[in-house]
Amino acid sequence: MKQSILVTGGAGYIGSHTTLALLEAGHDVIVLDNLANSSQESLRRVERICGKTATFIEGDIRDRELLDSIFARHSIQAVLHFAGLKAVGESVQQPLAYYENNVSGSIVLFQAMAAANVFNLVFSSSATVYGEPKEMPISESCPTGTPTNPYGRSKLMVEEILRDLAISESRWSIALLRYFNPVGAHVSGLIGEDPNGIPNNLVPYISQVAVGKLQQLSVYGNDYPTIDGTGVRDYIHVIDLANGHLKALNVIIESTGINTWNLGTGQGYSVLQMISAFEQAANVEVPYAVVARRSGDIAECWADPKKAIQELGWKTQHNLEDMMRDTWRWQQKNPNGFGK
Ligand code: NAD
Ligand code: WQD
Repeated sequence: MKQSILVTGGAGYIGSHTTLALLEAGHDVIVLDNLANSSQESLRRVERICGKTATFIEGDIRDRELLDSIFARHSIQAVLHFAGLKAVGESVQQPLAYYENNVSGSIVLFQAMAAANVFNLVFSSSATVYGEPKEMPISESCPTGTPTNPYGRSKLMVEEILRDLAISESRWSIALLRYFNPVGAHVSGLIGEDPNGIPNNLVPYISQVAVGKLQQLSVYGNDYPTIDGTGVRDYIHVIDLANGHLKALNVIIESTGINTWNLGTGQGYSVLQMISAFEQAANVEVPYAVVARRSGDIAECWADPKKAIQELGWKTQHNLEDMMRDTWRWQQKNPNGFGK
């Protein structure tokens, strides 16, 4: 049997870009996604871009029988685990749904992997596990903090479960990838982020204002101790993020144990800098109003990406202008996303 990579959540935003990168690198890919926050159209577009097809299985990571049948039918070399719920505000309203999907679902997946003797895993973690950072930039040796919401806690819990797993069984080879703020889209404008309803995140919100779907952006606070008073984040192009997964995959396949890598650019930008970069790239005005701080937000957060650069041989190749230009192309070509 040909060796395959199983991508859970592969129809979603980061998963679809990574599926594309895997197919382009010659991997055989199986996507498992319950389409809770995505559409199969993303994978049809991936096929259009690269001329290769990922096997799609509609289903849930919490379905142990389904997982067992996937591992029995395919020779899986590694799992890239993106599947989960990710809306911070919703996680406060529905904590059990978040713990069930993100924590219980991950446990079922890891049990099925172990039963099938598949021990190579890349897990989608988040910079949110650092909580309120004590120092900047944030390196992997910074202690994890106290995430301010159930979503963030679910990511930290899975990290801790995986650390225990790696201690209990030496065959596990695990990459914990802590993403900073993923933005942007494939240069073709065929795949990109397709949020449900009104976006929570800054860049999708800006682009929906720019395209005329939303009236104006609310800037959450301009009294932070930052360059211009607005929040500073490390925005990373989704294509660079996808490539980071390929690099991590190559490393874990050749080793064992558990490793954490930050995937960020090392450069922070404020909300006002983001607005102005978008306006320049898109040549449209983005009306905004400064409002109160959003509860749970931190002032600033950017990565020290040295460890990933040195150990994964990975480097970001897209700058802020690329992120904004590609976001805008995707938004303009697909004002209603995938139409899911
Ligand atoms: P997304 O919602 O676009 O993708 C997640 C995918 O998982 C969706 O296609 C959804 O349908 C699927 N899914 C959800 N629950 C499932 C389940 N129980 N079984 C099978 N499929 C399921 O989100 P994304 O932005 O692509 O994020 C991917 C991963 O990266 C998530 O784990 C997220 O927590 C993590 N992450 C995202 C960000 C970000 O800002 N986008 C930052 C840090 C970490
Ligand atoms: C960025 C900046 C806001 C919207 C979140 C999650 C995190 C991770 C990524 C998954 C902040 C400001 C935003 C708006 C604004 N997800 N902002 N007006 O909060 O850094 O991270 O997404 O792991 O867990 O918390 O990203 O894009 O929401 O905000 O002024 O309408 O933009 O205050 O300074 P955040 P974001």
